[in-house]
Amino acid sequence: TEKIIIDTDPGIDDAMAIHLAFAHPGLEVVALTTIFGNVHTATATRNALVLAEMAQYPCAVAQGADKPLVLPLNPPADFVHGAEGFGDLPARTPTGKPDPRSAAAYICEMAAAHPGEITLCAVGPLTNLALALRHDPAVTKNLKRVVIMGGAVDAPGNVSPFAEANIINDPHAAEEVFAADWPITLVGLDVTMQVRCTPDDFASMPGSSPTIGGFLNDATQFYFDFHRRQHDLNCCFMHDPTAVIAVTDPDVLTCESVPLSVICEGEKIGQTVRIDDPARRPVDVALGVDIDRVRSIFIDTIKSADGR
Ligand code: BDR
Ligand code: CA
Repeated sequence: TEKIIIDTDPGIDDAMAIHLAFAHPGLEVVALTTIFGNVHTATATRNALVLAEMAQYPCAVAQGADKPLVLPLNPPADFVHGAEGFGDLPARTPTGKPDPRSAAAYICEMAAAHPGEITLCAVGPLTNLALALRHDPAVTKNLKRVVIMGGAVDAPGNVSPFAEANIINDPHAAEEVFAADWPITLVGLDVTMQVRCTPDDFASMPGSSPTIGGFLNDATQFYFDFHRRQHDLNCCFMHDPTAVIAVTDPDVLTCESVPLSVICEGEKIGQTVRIDDPARRPVDVALGVDIDRVRSIFIDTIKSADGR
């Protein structure tokens, strides 16, 4: 099994990704580290604890930054994920507490304790990753690799015509992350908007998985409404789960290896762009995806989640 830390702003598709990771036999989730984005950071921490307790999965939760490095905090995406993060579902109160360490310190310490073994899968804004680079530069060597849901390289953005949400919510952090010397796979809108699940896909889950499948089916109704309103689609984009599947099944992606940068001001702020800089380590940018395989890995794994 592969050790993974998920840096996350749960969030409906974050909840899908986290329950997928908990239920996947190939993964050991060491921790969830939390960030603002879909919700405020304190809500992200509460929701991460709730998800771990729902799955009875004994992983740590470490709270991250509550604002971007430079820019002011954008309001949470409540029109996509609901006021509390899980659609219309009321807030739940977890019994557990987060780890006393910050997300950045936690990531650095765990990576140093298990050098070369931990994959960091970031599915929210990249502030905690930038802070980890500052906290302990050796984290670039100690992590196995970094898989990021974020950006839109050839595809248009989802917050502006240029920018994807996780990148525009802290473009300066993303730029530091892409400039650092660590192996990154970028799973952006180029592929995640191709991977879609329908209401019927989710309705098929609670039968064999009433707790996890039932929760995801309930939470996702609000996310479907957003896709109907915004995109005129009766399905939803599987952003964050696709990044987790990029960890377990990397061959579902077709990638281009190219140095990447983030535009940090002006009209195109938050855009992820190819640059010609031989000093910068190339990023593996996902441009193609095996849609059917990603869909079936997700659906089959969630259907088996209650029996894990
Ligand atoms: C990303 O932004 C968030 O709303 C989702 O959880 C996903 O991580 C998609 O742009
Ligand atoms: Ca997310």
